[in-house]
Amino acid sequence: MNINLVVAATENNVIGKDNKLLWHLPNDLKFFKNTTWAMPVIMGRKTYESMGKPLKGRTNIVITSNHAYAPGNGVIVVDSIDGAVEESAKTDAKECYIIGGGEIFKQAMPRAHRIYMTRVHTTMDGDTFFPPISEKEWQLTSNTRFESDAKHALPYSFQIWQRK
Ligand SMILES: NC(=O)c1ccc[n+]([C@@H]2O[C@H](COP(=O)([O-])OP(=O)(O)OC[C@H]3O[C@@H](n4cnc5c(N)ncnc54)[C@H](OP(=O)(O)O)[C@@H]3O)[C@@H](O)[C@H]2O)c1
Repeated sequence: MNINLVVAATENNVIGKDNKLLWHLPNDLKFFKNTTWAMPVIMGRKTYESMGKPLKGRTNIVITSNHAYAPGNGVIVVDSIDGAVEESAKTDAKECYIIGGGEIFKQAMPRAHRIYMTRVHTTMDGDTFFPPISEKEWQLTSNTRFESDAKHALPYSFQIWQRK
């Protein structure tokens, strides 16, 4: 089972603040939907609660240490990243997509095969971070930049990083 990370981060690796996202980039939301559609998506309990409901058209897997956690709505609850990967393997999918947040990215990055990074070209204050991507371990295989426009207040790049 290939493990992919999907993340949007500023140049100083901020991914969130006060359990919220910090920007609205409609093209990134489209990219995220297309990339993860029909796939198992794995997230930490805080990220799930910040969304408030499962992502439609995908198998939603939430990691928590709380064995009584029961969000309903078809969400699968596990207590480890291993458990989440095992649940993903029960589906038809060959890959799973870890979608955050900071705690889960940090633990999953050493096991990931690919990172779909939307790099938001700004720096911001935040309280949640993506781990730095080491170019010793990761190779940038695709990098497409978009400038700001009427719908996107910030420039951003869709990047794919592959483990070397
Ligand atoms: N920009 C992006 O791409 C992006 C994507 C996703 C999220 N975010 C942002 O990231 C922030 C949330 O991230 P976060 O780091 O605070 O939280 P998180 O990673 O979403 O969730 C953390 C929770 O996951 C559970 N957990 C983590 N590791 C575990 C383990 N090994 N075993 C069992 N349970 C484990 C714990 O839940 P319990 O406390 O219930 O045990 C922990 O409190 C928000 O601001 C959100 O908007 C940004």
